[in-house]
Amino acid sequence: MFEQELAGLKAQGLFRRLRVIGSGRGPRILIEGREVVNLASNDYLGLARHPALREAASRALGTYGVGAGASRLLAGDFGLHEELEARLAAFEGRPRALLFNSGYQANVGIIPALVEKGDTLFSDELNHASLIDGCRLSRARVWVYRHRDLSHLEALLRETADARRKLIVTDGVFSMDGDLAPLPGIVALARQYGTWVMVDEAHATGVLGPRGRGTLEHFGLTDQVEVQMGTLGKALGVFGAYVTGDEGLIAYLIQRCRSFIFTTALPPALAAASIRALELVDEEPWRRERLWKNRERLVAGLRAQGFDMMGSETPIFPVRFGGVAEAHHAAARLLDLGIHAPAIRPPTVPPDACRIRLSVSAAHSEEDLEAVLLAFSRL
Ligand SMILES: Cc1ncc(COP(=O)(O)O)c(C=O)c1O
Repeated sequence: MFEQELAGLKAQGLFRRLRVIGSGRGPRILIEGREVVNLASNDYLGLARHPALREAASRALGTYGVGAGASRLLAGDFGLHEELEARLAAFEGRPRALLFNSGYQANVGIIPALVEKGDTLFSDELNHASLIDGCRLSRARVWVYRHRDLSHLEALLRETADARRKLIVTDGVFSMDGDLAPLPGIVALARQYGTWVMVDEAHATGVLGPRGRGTLEHFGLTDQVEVQMGTLGKALGVFGAYVTGDEGLIAYLIQRCRSFIFTTALPPALAAASIRALELVDEEPWRRERLWKNRERLVAGLRAQGFDMMGSETPIFPVRFGGVAEAHHAAARLLDLGIHAPAIRPPTVPPDACRIRLSVSAAHSEEDLEAVLLAFSRL
């Protein structure tokens, strides 16, 4: 069975391969011994290798050792977890926060804790797989609305006016398209139709908003949604995730959220590094400024060459290539030209919307950006 399935994937150009990345310097990595510019990382602020984060993690390693040893409710709760949660709540300007081991675990746990059979979910068609899986696991009825389409969402809300609990779930920044959820409109509809809202800030924390707090800050909606989820493994450069909300939400999730309860706690050294990363977002705002400057430079250069960036508004931008073979070929050619930028194919995106996904970082130099533009001009 496996051989047959795998042969099918290979025939369609959809077979995925793991590629070992040799360590390189910052935004450049070694692939098969060759240094290439890396446009496939979500280390937006260039914090993943920051000396202050390494130092914070090493100090905690010395004190606490490596693993947490148990789930937090059994014996794995360290002061660093509480401290990081307090810092996250203060960072986001929301009452309380709760840690998760990854964004995936957060989403597949939070949604089924909040809604169940008999309840109703509304989900943007381009939501991240972890939100989709959370919706499926909940066994609530799921209505998928067209991407960023408020009138479609409203039509569905109207149709389900008498449903029990209702929750709208959306990425803040869409991970494959780099566009933003129309949150002011979503929040207004949620008020009108008595619905909760959950926003996934995975690609927005540290990146969007005047102080890098995410899409809620960007839109001035900090205290306007019930559930804000974010990650520590992208712009913050570490690993893990969090949810923020009011006292009741967090207390309830500690009782009911299976992906929080039934798993070993986040290693304390990662909590220590994340605390330092939150401080650096404020201490080194030039990183966010540089990120956006780099983003503008690349987008302007690619646009001038006639590439279609599919409406991206953020440091993630897709470059459309159409079919599987075209995107595959473009990625291979870019690698030859010294640029690592992966082809994104089904099932991640629809078959006719295959693309090269670029994510730029504050750590990219002028020289890196010039190399990218030159490579695209030669495609
Ligand atoms: C929108 C979104 N949500 C959640 C996740 C999962 O986060 P994590 O990598 O921490 O599991 C990702 C990507 O990984 C993402 O892009």
